[in-house]
Amino acid sequence: MAASASTLFIDRRLVLCVGPGGVGKTTCSAALALQAATSGRKVVVVTIDPSRRLAQALGLDAGVSGELVPVLREPGMVLDALILDGAKVFDSIVRSCSSDAKTAQTILDSRIYQATAQRLSGALEFAAMARVQMLVDAGEHDLIILDTPPTANAVDFLEAPTRIRELIDNPGARLIAGGGRIGAKILGLGSSLLSKTLEAMGGGAFMGDLGAFLKEFSSVIEEFHSRGGDFERLLRSPATGVVMVTTASPFSAREAGAFLDQLGDYGLRVDAVVFNRTDTQLPPPPPRARFDAALAKLDARERERLWNAYAGARALGERTRRSIASIRDARPRLRIWTAPRHADPPDTLPELRALGRQIFEGAAS
Ligand SMILES: Nc1ncnc2c1ncn2[C@@H]1O[C@H](COP(=O)(O)OP(=O)(O)OP(=O)(O)O)[C@@H](O)[C@H]1O
Ligand SMILES: [Mg+2]
Repeated sequence: MAASASTLFIDRRLVLCVGPGGVGKTTCSAALALQAATSGRKVVVVTIDPSRRLAQALGLDAGVSGELVPVLREPGMVLDALILDGAKVFDSIVRSCSSDAKTAQTILDSRIYQATAQRLSGALEFAAMARVQMLVDAGEHDLIILDTPPTANAVDFLEAPTRIRELIDNPGARLIAGGGRIGAKILGLGSSLLSKTLEAMGGGAFMGDLGAFLKEFSSVIEEFHSRGGDFERLLRSPATGVVMVTTASPFSAREAGAFLDQLGDYGLRVDAVVFNRTDTQLPPPPPRARFDAALAKLDARERERLWNAYAGARALGERTRRSIASIRDARPRLRIWTAPRHADPPDTLPELRALGRQIFEGAAS
């Protein structure tokens, strides 16, 4: 199916870039956001843990976590970016959802909050969704591209906020709001973290503090949920699409296939799969005798080295072809885009633009 930058995600308000760890989700989010901005849409890319150079390219090094930074402002072109750091974004949620500034400060100053906010399982995902919900409500952008953290499976990210909610709704957790040992368990604190915190706080005080903290913190989460309750509906609505990023390594390709099934079951719409860092498909080598004759000037060892290098490069190209075919055969209607392996990490704006163009050149063929 043909696609161009101008029709890219035309019906979408939110696009999630998901995929296995390390495949290029953050890089492709930025490249796709640039492409979409080039086509005249007002775009914001929400990135998680970009490399330092990529953050610099997006002008994020100077930005505060969770705050919008303008990347491009050219006639008819708007690209903003923001970087999400779970703990810091959580701080801003606490500030905006607390009943008053004093309560917010009490929570933020709590040693339990400081020791746990970054480690609560699902905190980053929760923060990401909260921030995206705020961007949707603000309505300043036509398109939000959301990078996602590496997860063991595709819906982990989507379900994380629900897990936090269950934690708060859990009657056990409520009980603990009066103090008790099980609270630490419900909070999902690893035993080493718990004992370290206990040690630091002089033991007994911990449980009392935990109770007070949970009481205040749960009202923040409640408030957030009452404001952002539509997020799940947004995820499943036609305004939301998913781009699955993967690589041709058999492991990533298999994982991507499993992710695709999970996303389908979850009711999400997959717009495309991007095979990133693909290797060129090379034709079969000539017969060895012809190869040797053509390179007669080289010594035999050198020829052997070249022959093997070609075979190795060709095997990588073949692997790319096989992995793409495995996804395509199982889902013939799915759009598949490819992005070649660059010699250097694409982490400047011109390189990201080039990567975005390559994705679309492949898309049109
Ligand atoms: N097409 C490409 N060619 C060469 N290098 C690439 C390409 N795409 C991404 N990379 C590099 O691969 C590395 C991983 O990319 P990136 O951080 O975008 O992956 P990720 O999926 O977001 O990782 P994580 O799961 O850890 O968040 C980075 O060093 C990045 O610069
Ligand atoms: Mg990433």
